[in-house]
Amino acid sequence: MQSLFLFSITICLLRVAVAQEGFCSAPEILITESTYGKVTNPTLSPSHLQDLPGFTRSVYKRDHALITPESHVFSPLPDWSNALGAYLITPAMGSHFAMYLAKMQGNSKSAPPPNDVERFIFVIQGEITLTNVSSVSQTLMVDTYVYLPPNFEHSITCEASATLVVLERRYVNLKNYKTEQIVGSTDEQPLLETPGEIFDLRKLLPTSMPYDFNIHIMDFQPGEFLNVKEVHYNQHGLLLLEGQGIYRLGDNWYPVQAGDAIWMAPFVPQWYAALGKTRSRYLLYKDVNRNPL
Ligand SMILES: *[C@@H]1O[C@H](CO)[C@@H](O)[C@H](O)[C@H]1NC(C)=O
Repeated sequence: MQSLFLFSITICLLRVAVAQEGFCSAPEILITESTYGKVTNPTLSPSHLQDLPGFTRSVYKRDHALITPESHVFSPLPDWSNALGAYLITPAMGSHFAMYLAKMQGNSKSAPPPNDVERFIFVIQGEITLTNVSSVSQTLMVDTYVYLPPNFEHSITCEASATLVVLERRYVNLKNYKTEQIVGSTDEQPLLETPGEIFDLRKLLPTSMPYDFNIHIMDFQPGEFLNVKEVHYNQHGLLLLEGQGIYRLGDNWYPVQAGDAIWMAPFVPQWYAALGKTRSRYLLYKDVNRNPL
C-alpha cells in the first residue's frame, strides 16, 4: 500500500518535471490588446481540440453556415496585387452578397469590384489608403470604414499590412436613386433606440432609400441576449469582432467567439446570447429598403 502511494507521488513529480520541460505545458494564452485583435489572432478553444485531425467548428447547412478561423483558406484576390482573400459567404450558398476577409501585404493594391457592384470595407487591423476618382486620398484605420457606390472609381492601397472585411453586392437600382461614397468610424455613429432590446446598436450607413443594405454594429454585455427570436425575410452576414456567446440558428446552438463568421439565409430562426467575461461586438450585413418581390 505504502509503495503504491510512493509510486504515485513519483509519477506526479515526473509529470511536473515533464510539464516544465514543456511537453504538457498549458497552451499559451494569446493576449491581444489591439482592437479586434481576436479576429486576426483567434484563440481556438477548447485548446486540446485545436490540433485534433479533422476537427473544426465550421458548419454548412441549407439555411445557415458558421465559418470558423481554422477553416479559412486564403488565395490571391482576382486582380488585386499582394493581397490574399478568404471568401466566407458567396452566392454559391444562396446569398445575394459576398463577404470576405482581405489580407493586404506591403505595397498591395485593390482591384475594383465587377460592374454595378457596390462595396463596403471595414478595417480590422492595420491601415489602408483610399484614393477616389477626385484623387483625394484618405487614411483608414482600425474601426473605420468606407462605402463605395457601384461603378465608383477608387483604389485601396496598403504600405505595411492590413486586414479588412469586405462586403459586396449587385446594387438594386430603384427610381434612379444614387448612393454616395461614405467614410466613417464606428465611434462617430450615434447609439440608436432598440425598443424591447438591451443591446447597443449603431448603423454605419444612412437608412435612406438609395441604400439597399446597411451594416449594423451590435454590442452585448456578458449575459445579455436578443429578446426577439427573429425570423425574417432579410439575409445576414455576421462577423463576430469581440467576445463569445451562443448563436442559435434553426434548431442548432453554436458556441461562437471573435473571428467567427455566420451566414443566415432568409427566415432562419436566429438568436444570440453573449457569455464569457467581455463584451460581444458583431458586424452585421442586412438587406433593406427593397421590395422582396
Ligand atoms: C472623394 O473623397 C473625398 C473625401 O472623402 C470626398 O470629399 C469626395 O466627395 C469624394 N469624391 C467623390 C466623387 O465622391
